[in-house]
Amino acid sequence: MATVAPDDRRAAIILVVIVVFAVLAVASLLVAFSYYCYIRNKVSRRVKSLKGNGSSRDKSESLQVTVDKGVHVFTFKQLHAATSGFGKANVIGHGGFGSVYKGILPDGRKIAVKLMDQCGKQGEEEFKMEVELLSRLRSPYLLGLLGYCTDNDHKLLVYEFMANGGLQEHLYPENGSHGRISELDWETRMRIALEAAKGLEYLHEHVNPPVIHRDFKSSNILLDSNFHAKVSDFGLAKLGSDKVGGHVSTRVLGTEGYVAPEYALTGHLTTKSDVYSYGVVLLELLTGRVPVDMKRAPGEGVLVSWVLPRLTDREKVVEIMDPSLEGQYSMKEVVQVAAIAAMCVQPEADYRPLMADVVQSLVPLVMHHQRPTSKVANCSNPLSAKSPSASESGRATTS
Ligand SMILES: Nc1ncnc2c1ncn2[C@@H]1O[C@H](COP(=O)(O)OP(=O)(O)OP(=O)(O)O)[C@@H](O)[C@H]1O
Ligand SMILES: [Mg+2]
Repeated sequence: MATVAPDDRRAAIILVVIVVFAVLAVASLLVAFSYYCYIRNKVSRRVKSLKGNGSSRDKSESLQVTVDKGVHVFTFKQLHAATSGFGKANVIGHGGFGSVYKGILPDGRKIAVKLMDQCGKQGEEEFKMEVELLSRLRSPYLLGLLGYCTDNDHKLLVYEFMANGGLQEHLYPENGSHGRISELDWETRMRIALEAAKGLEYLHEHVNPPVIHRDFKSSNILLDSNFHAKVSDFGLAKLGSDKVGGHVSTRVLGTEGYVAPEYALTGHLTTKSDVYSYGVVLLELLTGRVPVDMKRAPGEGVLVSWVLPRLTDREKVVEIMDPSLEGQYSMKEVVQVAAIAAMCVQPEADYRPLMADVVQSLVPLVMHHQRPTSKVANCSNPLSAKSPSASESGRATTS
């Protein structure tokens, strides 16, 4: 009988072990692959069933939008009823996304409904994503999203109603820089500047990942019945299509006069682009001038270029101030606010401050002015801010 050499035996054992491992590996691969197929099947069946529902029922039911508590899904019918059928009398403004209507819910709550222009199926998905994001952002300095509607290809956003509308309407009452005198006093302007800064600070520094507004401007600062400010339309800038009627939409480029130079030149967008736009709004509050007005004298058409050399010059800074604010502020205050604005509109993004720094610098200015009884702009009497008491309070701050 032939005997097996120990070396041959070891080789046979190794071979058996290798074969066993190979079989086990193939078996596990097969199991993993079957599991993957099973999960894929399950997911695609679910997607199909959701799509199927959408064709026969309200789209709002088929769109699985995960929103925080408090954000309501409205039907088109409900919003139609709340806004008197989107009647002309209910229109409160028009913007880059469509028209805004005032409405009243059956429980008596006032709302603002933004009926967005159509931008196709892809727009609907983006809209859904934005609603999901916006519903999670909550700050007293941001306009609250109450709900939305995506019925019958319509896209609507429902916001809390802000009784005093956009800041620009109060800075430029006749819708132009040469119209009626603004009734917003210094104290109210500084408080608006601080509250808007807090809104941006929240978006940049309290949200992860940070949210870049992209279209920060005076019409996107809304004022409630007490002239407290909230920032609106954050995150919406992404939603618009890039081409409207063959022209590049302002949604991509932001709004003329507010866009940071590096964004305009390279499309490179950071939170510092918002800081630049914030600086432009601060300049509007100081000067009462729109960011771009080519009807002005030569050299004065572009607000930033006109004011920049004057902002850091104590002698010249008074030249740029809104004449309607005369007697309401101290030199010390103006120099401080002008310095903040100058830093925000620096052409070099890295030299611009963080919004948290802006807030820190503005807080003492607003605290200084705060009185025990909350003061709001007296819109019935434009000259009230120039009353002796107001002037005195302004002078008192110089000491
Ligand atoms: N929640 C609201 N409460 C009261 N008024 C509002 C509200 N939202 C918007 N408005 C009014 O509607 C106007 C138009 O707003 P909308 O946001 O559509 O356009 P915009 O701010 O001028 O430009 P953009 O589309 O670039 O934001 C505002 O200027 C404001 O007067
Ligand atoms: Mg707006």
